[in-house]
Amino acid sequence: MSFRRTHHCGQLRADHIDQKVVVCGWVHRRRDHGGVIFIDLRDRAGLVQAVFNPEYLPPEQFAEAEKLRNEYVIQVSGIVKGRLPGMANPNLATGAIEIYADKLVVLNEAKTPPFAIDARNGVDEALRLKYRYLDLRCPNMQATLALRHRATKLMRDFLDSRGFWEIETPMLTKSTPEGARDFLVPSRVQPGEFYALPQSPQLFKQLLMMGGMDRYFQIARCFRDEDLRADRQPEFTQLDMEMAFVDRDDILDLIEDMVTFVFEGTVGAKIQLPLPRLSYADAMARYGSDKPDTRFGLEIVDVTKAVQDTSFRVFTETAAQGGAIRGINVPGAGESFARREIDELGELASSYGAKGLLWLIVTDDGGRGGITKFFDPQQLATLTCTMGANPGDLLIFVADEPMVCAEVLGRLRLFLGDKLGLIDENAWNLLWVVDWPLFEFDEAEGRFQAAHHPFTAPVMDDLHLLTTEQGKVRAQAYDLVLNGVELGGGSIRIHRREIQEQMFVALGMTPQEAEERFGFFLNAFDYGTPPHGGIAFGLDRWIMLLAKTDSIRDVIAFPKTASAQDLMTGAPSPAMDGQLRELHIELTPEVAKRFQSEA
Ligand code: AMO
Ligand code: AMP
Repeated sequence: MSFRRTHHCGQLRADHIDQKVVVCGWVHRRRDHGGVIFIDLRDRAGLVQAVFNPEYLPPEQFAEAEKLRNEYVIQVSGIVKGRLPGMANPNLATGAIEIYADKLVVLNEAKTPPFAIDARNGVDEALRLKYRYLDLRCPNMQATLALRHRATKLMRDFLDSRGFWEIETPMLTKSTPEGARDFLVPSRVQPGEFYALPQSPQLFKQLLMMGGMDRYFQIARCFRDEDLRADRQPEFTQLDMEMAFVDRDDILDLIEDMVTFVFEGTVGAKIQLPLPRLSYADAMARYGSDKPDTRFGLEIVDVTKAVQDTSFRVFTETAAQGGAIRGINVPGAGESFARREIDELGELASSYGAKGLLWLIVTDDGGRGGITKFFDPQQLATLTCTMGANPGDLLIFVADEPMVCAEVLGRLRLFLGDKLGLIDENAWNLLWVVDWPLFEFDEAEGRFQAAHHPFTAPVMDDLHLLTTEQGKVRAQAYDLVLNGVELGGGSIRIHRREIQEQMFVALGMTPQEAEERFGFFLNAFDYGTPPHGGIAFGLDRWIMLLAKTDSIRDVIAFPKTASAQDLMTGAPSPAMDGQLRELHIELTPEVAKRFQSEA
């Protein structure tokens, strides 16, 4: 038989009245009204109502219609009619019309699904993931994947128009250091040896520049074995790019054009260019975050100078030890917050790693509560002036190492922005964070690590500090932040061998270790490497924000859970004995025993 459709269900409008149509889809709902059956038929384009009236339908066909249940797959032929006056459904795009069915073909029956397709929101996510193919039938999953398709199509179109070539890079490869743990794949033909799945195509895209490809992009799958959160998956997708013969501003300009193009073509938003640029140091000082949400104020203020001479020991001692005292003015909260709410902020501060939270309320004649008693009137006036505070405002403070102040107040700021309803949910606040440090000190390991990855170029003025004063070296790196989420990051790369070698030394690698891991890459530098740089975007995160959801699982067709499981296929799962033998792998006795007891 022919499955040929004349239209999609959701496409039909008043323009189609009196046309003969054929549609296919799933039974979304069936209603029986005194001998006439109404079916809401659903496909990717939406719902349409089909009417099965015994007056227009042979009796055996009507009997078939009586047997229809939710999620049966059917084909309906009929004539489009305008609905009777007063019967139009303004909530449905096809609500002005209905199909008077004259033929029904049941293409497949269906069991009662474990959740109703239109009642997805209350359903436990684990159940939705187990039956993901049903979840995918929900209109908002379909809308999200349509948005994702549209966005990636626009990215491809834009990049093509700017001379980028889409080039694939290998999945079975050597470790690429992006700071996470690798997924390893054992080799059967080389016993005891392993491929690593790429954490990103970083080395390959640089090798493509060395290979003269000039401008590359890829919608690339990346694999990172790290702790998962709402915005992290073990495998995720990057829009990955690299360009030769460019400096930082060439890249930022091009990306700004692409971002405007994508925003306009997907959600119709006009983005004001140029995007704001904030240094890493300013972002940390003012927002306590390297991905600041600038949709609201509540900026952090350093008050060390204003409070270091008060009689409060915590302030004097912290200042004397080179620490900082920083605070946030929470406007009006001195009046609107109950004492319990202030205490709750204190508990949050402690859970974020502060020794405590200090506070006072600004009043007409100075201040009250909390640490007011340690201030004389002049000191209080200086403090309120520094923080731009007015009577009725609540001032909160953390005294600690600068990084702790930033971290704690940054998180309190986000909490308060949400609690006070200060976040404009319709805003698209994009900004660049620039002037990153090249290294960060890893307390646990007692050594410096690359803040981005080891191929990021230092600011050339800082080159002489590379192996001596790592903490001071700035990077030619940049991150793009949208509404407080890190959308993407990149850098100008090192393109000279001796600097790359110094970088490995600075990271504590011996020349032998560098040779073992990156020898092939270092050798490539010897044969003419152009200056180059690039960036990669977290595509899932970008779509998540465009779709206004708060989990990247909502924008990935088949995502994994927080414990890295695929609830539908059951992956990961034990390997067959024979497979392990072929791979020269033996399980430890404890693990083997666990499988035996489960079997
Ligand atoms: P980076 O490691 O910053 O840079 O990754 C780029 C972007 O990828 C997204 N991202 C993730 N999204 C979902 N799940 C994850 N586990 C995950 N990890 C990262 C983020 C991030 O901004 N090779 C460099 C780029 C370059 O230098 O060009 C890189 O991978 O949105
Ligand atoms: P203490 O004098 O140590 O008992 O502290 C008095 C109050 O100040 C307690 O409520 C602590 O939570 C708070 N506090 C102590 N040290 C700090 C600090 N460094 N930053 C913020 N609050 C602090």
